[in-house]
Amino acid sequence: MSGNRQITTTVIQQRKIEGKTITMLTAYDFSMAKFLNDAGIDMLLVGDSLGNVVLGYDSTLPVTMEDMIHHGKAVCRGAKQAMVVVDMPFMSYQVSTEQAVTNAGRIMKETGAQAVKLEGGREIVSAVKAIVNAGIPVVGHLGLTPQSVHSLGGFKVQGKEEKSAQKLLDDAKILEENGAFAVVLECVPALLAQKVTQAIGIPTIGIGAGVHCDGQVLVTNDLLGLYPGFSPKFAKRYANLHVQVAQAVAEYKKEVETRVFPSVEHSFKISDEVLEKLY
Ligand code: KIV
Repeated sequence: MSGNRQITTTVIQQRKIEGKTITMLTAYDFSMAKFLNDAGIDMLLVGDSLGNVVLGYDSTLPVTMEDMIHHGKAVCRGAKQAMVVVDMPFMSYQVSTEQAVTNAGRIMKETGAQAVKLEGGREIVSAVKAIVNAGIPVVGHLGLTPQSVHSLGGFKVQGKEEKSAQKLLDDAKILEENGAFAVVLECVPALLAQKVTQAIGIPTIGIGAGVHCDGQVLVTNDLLGLYPGFSPKFAKRYANLHVQVAQAVAEYKKEVETRVFPSVEHSFKISDEVLEKLY
C-alpha cells in the first residue's frame, strides 16, 4: 500500500536543500485525498482538526485514536503518491513514552501512513525520540498547538515576546536534534518563522507563519470555503464552495418536491411484456 509512494521523508528533506517549496493540505477521507494527491500536493495531513471540521466538536481534544485511524485509513487509500502524515490525538503521547510508541505504531500499522505528527517542544521530546527510535518518522508542531488551547489561553499568535520566541526557536532545534524530519509552525510571526527556518536543517511547514517557511499547510475545508462563517486571518479562500453546495441542495429539494427529478434519463426501463405479466 505505502511502498510505492513517490514522496518520502528524503524527498521532503531534499526540498529544503534545493529551496523547493513543500505543499501540504489536510485530508480526512478517500475522495478528498484523491483530489489532493492527483493535484500533486506533496503531503496530506490527517489533522486532528478532523474534530472541528468533520466531527463537529469545538476543539480537537475529544478526538480519539480510533477516529484518527479510521480517517487515516481512508486517506491512505486515496493518496497513491503523496506522503500521508497522521496527527497523534490529545493524550495519546503525553502520558508515557511507552504509550506514545504503542499509539504511533498502531497508526502506522493500521493506516498505512508514512509519519505521525505530535504537538509540542521540549515537553514531549522523550516521546518524539522514542517514536523516531522505533523507526517511525515524526513531524513536530510548534506555536499555536490546538491541543493546548486551554493552557495557551485561546487561539492566538504565539512567540511575539522575547521569552516565548526564544523558547519556540530552541524547541525547533530540540525537535531536530531528537529526530523530527519536519516541523509545522502555526500562528507565529513571519520573521520569527524565517529565523527558525534558517536556524534548523529540517523543513518548516507554516500555517499562519508567513512566506519564509519551507512549505505551507492549510485546512482544506478553509481553502475551499466550505463554511460561510468565520475564517482565520491566515486561511486564504481559493473558492466559496458553500455557495455552490447550498445552491445545489436547494435545487435538488425543489426538483424532488416538484417531481422534476428523477427524469427519464435518471431512471431504469422495464419491458411492457414483463410489466403486463405482473399481477
Ligand atoms: O490538525 C490540523 O489540521 C493541523 C494543521 C492546522 C497544521 O495540525
